[in-house]
Amino acid sequence: MKNNYSYQEALEASERISWRIKDIIGGEKRLDFSKPFMPESLAQVSTLSFLSPEEKRTLNQVRGHEYLAMFGLVEEFILPYVVEHARPKLSGDDYRVRALLQFAGEEAKHIHLFKTFRHNFEAGFGSKCAFIGPAEDIRNFVLSHSPLGVGIAVLHIEWITLRHYIEGVRDNQDLDPQFKSLLKHHWLEESQHTKLDTLIVEDLAAKASEKEVDQAFQEYAEIGGFIDEGIKQQAEFDVEAFVSATGRNLAKSERAEMNEAVLKGMRWTYLGTGMTHPNFLATVEQIKPEARAQIEQMAPAFC
Ligand SMILES: [Fe+2]
Ligand SMILES: [Fe+2]
Repeated sequence: MKNNYSYQEALEASERISWRIKDIIGGEKRLDFSKPFMPESLAQVSTLSFLSPEEKRTLNQVRGHEYLAMFGLVEEFILPYVVEHARPKLSGDDYRVRALLQFAGEEAKHIHLFKTFRHNFEAGFGSKCAFIGPAEDIRNFVLSHSPLGVGIAVLHIEWITLRHYIEGVRDNQDLDPQFKSLLKHHWLEESQHTKLDTLIVEDLAAKASEKEVDQAFQEYAEIGGFIDEGIKQQAEFDVEAFVSATGRNLAKSERAEMNEAVLKGMRWTYLGTGMTHPNFLATVEQIKPEARAQIEQMAPAFC
């Protein structure tokens, strides 16, 4: 079914919503380390029966740090992608020009927002949490693909931020209010990005040949595979961060179990929630029904 998204409607919603970073974090507004940061649906630490409640909370917070870093990282390639898409379209439809520039401006603000939260986390957590990178290499790898391939991957990312908030955070009263506020404010603006990126992807797909569409879906799978490789490395970093934060001596089997739980949680957070998102799949189906079937076939490995 065709959506009724428009550049004008997205721009007007964005102008109504607009918020400032200093309204969310800084000064008296700090992360509260006595509370979890991530909803259990994403963190997936409760099954680790050998951990105390405090240790589960620490691992949850480690995953919170990873979420901040991961979104900081993906926004690093979304920003140039949107700017490049907008560049040849700077005249003509005024609403489109303004909506695309607003989209880019918001992603630049989100990079700053996630960085600010990360600094706040590092100041309060008490020990180091490593993160994959360097961001520049990851950005260069992703942007080496065709605009349609990158656009589909970006659309996946935009939809997952909505799902994370709506399904796990909005009605959750246990989470740290500051972290919850971050996810809420991100969701508010990402709600427009999902629509704008759908319009971008539809525009690119309408101009693409059958071969280019096939290539784009292959690239989407490649980018997903690349992210999954990063996730595997990051799961080990998260376990290491937990060990240095708690000083806990994990038995070999406990370490393996923790690694598996973190990996499963990360795969669901960053891959499964997008690959099974009904609106993402609806756009994919509109472009190529077989591609939807393929994604649905791959999805269970990440759910
Ligand atoms: Fe964002
Ligand atoms: Fe976005």
